[in-house]
Amino acid sequence: MNPLQRPIWLAPLGGEPACAPLVAAVAEAGGLAWLGGAYLAPARLAAVIDEIRALTAQPFGVNLFWPQAWRRDAAREAHFLQMLAPFHAALGLAPPVLPARFEESFDEQLAVLRERRVPLISFTFGDPGTALVQQLQAGGARVVGTATNVPEALALQTSGVDAIVAQGAEAGGHRGSFLNHLDTALVGTLALVPQVVDAVQVPVIAAGGIADARGVAAAQALGAAAVAVGTAFLLADECPVSPAYRAALAAGAAHDTVLTAAFSGRWARGLANRYTRETAALQPGGALPDFPIPNALTRPLRQAAARAGLADGLSLWAGQALPLARSAPAAEIVRRLAAGWRG
Ligand SMILES: Cc1cc2nc3c(=O)[nH]c(=O)nc-3n(C[C@H](O)[C@H](O)[C@H](O)COP(=O)(O)O)c2cc1C
Repeated sequence: MNPLQRPIWLAPLGGEPACAPLVAAVAEAGGLAWLGGAYLAPARLAAVIDEIRALTAQPFGVNLFWPQAWRRDAAREAHFLQMLAPFHAALGLAPPVLPARFEESFDEQLAVLRERRVPLISFTFGDPGTALVQQLQAGGARVVGTATNVPEALALQTSGVDAIVAQGAEAGGHRGSFLNHLDTALVGTLALVPQVVDAVQVPVIAAGGIADARGVAAAQALGAAAVAVGTAFLLADECPVSPAYRAALAAGAAHDTVLTAAFSGRWARGLANRYTRETAALQPGGALPDFPIPNALTRPLRQAAARAGLADGLSLWAGQALPLARSAPAAEIVRRLAAGWRG
């Protein structure tokens, strides 16, 4: 069976949750599990892929960020460092400085996926284009793109992807948007999925706001070929998020989610905290350095906040369906979701 036909997907979760035990547990339970590989250095990415293969013989996929054009801007960087300074001081950290590099090499990450013969590869933040899609397919991989509106889905289809994840505005983590600006990209899953299903001929996977069997049934009714679930798996026993993040997630019903660009330079949905409140004015194209520069600049703060158990300095990525999520082994979460899928 084509693994893309598995109805329940563990959506790629980059950062803390990106680990072999969670991917393997979902794959073993019959889900299609994606590793969020974007933040992993190439050697680490290779090691995690090997670790997954040691844990399961089931197929799985790896997701990467499509590289973003960015340019340095001394004034915006200085402003951002100044804004970060009191957050550093509050945690007893040295003042923030510019790191030597801002992101992992996409080409080297992709080389790892080719070399390890990863059978399923997905991208977010962009359209990989016909040449790369054909190259990866010729190497035996299936390629999945991420769209947040119909024009993006059409562009991905033109590039020849095997399936498209339609990511609604409810979704936790980064928006996959790459065409049009934020306002037009914020289409909710209920509205987005049937529009994309009508517009393209490839399978469409619904993502955003699906956290229990009812959401799965709704996505199927909208014409989705599968669902990609992120937030509900953040509370899986196998998901290695820091205790402060887990505690914030467990209390999720008590908090709002907000879109913030102030952690990475791109819009992403997470729980509101002191950092998101105090940086709410920072927007891409405004005072904020280009993605992924802020991501590199906020890393020491996020890591220190995790060590100190302070949720106020963490990026608490989570989607609007968080209050529906329950702590459980990943296999149990897969089973609960699968109960909503017919056939
Ligand atoms: C913690 C976290 C990390 C994420 N990292 C990635 C990523 O690296 N790549 C990606 O394509 N999507 C990423 N996403 C988005 C998810 O893949 C997915 O679209 C989203 O979680 C679906 O909506 P839901 O959170 O309502 O289930 C992330 C989401 C979360 C919550």
